[in-house]
Amino acid sequence: MLDFTVITIFPPMFDSPLGHSILKKAQEKGLISVRLVDPRDYTTDKHRTVDDSPYGGGQGMVMKPEPLAAAIEDVKEKLNRPRVILLSPQGKLFDQAEAQRLSQEKELVLVCGRYEGVDERVKEFVDEELSVGDYTLSGGELPAMVVIDAVARLIPGVLGNLKSPEEDSFTDGLLEYPQYTRPEEFRGMKVPEVLLSGDHERIQSWRREMSLKITRERRPDLLGKAGARVEKKNTPRPTPARVYIALLHHPVYDKNGAVVTTAVTNMDIHDIARAAKTYGLKKFYVVTPVKALQKLSLKIIAHWEEGYGAEYNHTRKEALALARVKDTLDDAILDVERECGVKPKLVVTSARAGKNRTSFAALRNMLRVTPAPFLLLLGTGWGLTEEILAQSDTILEPIEGGTNYNHLSVRSAAAIILDRLLGTESAKENL
Ligand SMILES: C[S@@+](CC[C@H](N)C(=O)[O-])C[C@H]1O[C@@H](n2cnc3c(N)ncnc32)[C@H](O)[C@@H]1O
Repeated sequence: MLDFTVITIFPPMFDSPLGHSILKKAQEKGLISVRLVDPRDYTTDKHRTVDDSPYGGGQGMVMKPEPLAAAIEDVKEKLNRPRVILLSPQGKLFDQAEAQRLSQEKELVLVCGRYEGVDERVKEFVDEELSVGDYTLSGGELPAMVVIDAVARLIPGVLGNLKSPEEDSFTDGLLEYPQYTRPEEFRGMKVPEVLLSGDHERIQSWRREMSLKITRERRPDLLGKAGARVEKKNTPRPTPARVYIALLHHPVYDKNGAVVTTAVTNMDIHDIARAAKTYGLKKFYVVTPVKALQKLSLKIIAHWEEGYGAEYNHTRKEALALARVKDTLDDAILDVERECGVKPKLVVTSARAGKNRTSFAALRNMLRVTPAPFLLLLGTGWGLTEEILAQSDTILEPIEGGTNYNHLSVRSAAAIILDRLLGTESAKENL
């Protein structure tokens, strides 16, 4: 659920875009909400004045700071931790990566300027400024609508087909391939044969080729950014420096669906620590509330960090140096928060398919563009409980082996997940 608040002196401008199609349905399904706040309601004079002439002279009027600041403050008080954005031609360019980033927020406040813009001091009340392009519009309302639309369609469930935002232009840094529908032939123009072949591999590779061709012809500037999602040798990987992983032994399900605490295993600790080190993660948390198991985990770690094992095998020592033992998930979250200054985004991994799953490709992209740290949660036993799923920001799609057998060990799953999210070459093949 993403809660938008728009501060605008023209609330009715939003009726039509929000009253139709995808944005209307997204509100009806409770996936987004849009509240409109009029700064005129925060004025104190009889004429409800929101503008005044500029100091130093010049054309037009400027939006006064008091009503806007009062509106922002009031909205902030009513929300939890909203991100406040001023739409402004001087802002950072809003693109697909920015839309991805904002789709991870829970509350967004969009402030629309008018006239010659807003009094400079209003900027003290916002977190950032965004521009929708290098042209001047008459107000921030259309840009706010652009932001709402681009962000909302990335929220799981807003589009009927969950995969489709990933195939859109820009998602992987490229323009989209050409699309065709019936009839097969229109005024002598035929649908490319490959699309009628039913051969999905061929279709995929044709689409990829066309995407590259069109991007090269029309927007070569994007190729630089997409890097080598295009050139295989150079697949850009997200920076793993903000990625943490936790292995939860509680609360997890047993095979009958009861919530239990599982035992710690030597192999899980070793193998996940080694995978975490290989993919450059910051830390690996072993989470168990059982004191005896905490002791055992610490003993395993210490053996390879300080004991005989440290001398015997240096590489193992480096990997286990990432491991920390924690009582609860909250303790692990707190540890990340202490280290990074912000709470991590929680990503649940699950073998169970279900609603609102995020694809590996989308999460890989989020890791690349979101400045916040991420904590990947692995479950033991028969998986993490619904309570943990509900607490998370993202639920990752299950790993599919193409058979009915879906019982990977948690350490195998960890390695596959890390490779898909943070690996170099193989990640491209998998996505
Ligand atoms: C006419 S514009 C003000 C332009 C301002 N005098 C300047 O030259 O930068 C009025 C308002 O429209 C909005 N706006 C105009 N163009 C925009 C753009 N490209 N992206 C985001 N907001 C824009 C902003 O909220 C701005 O305060």
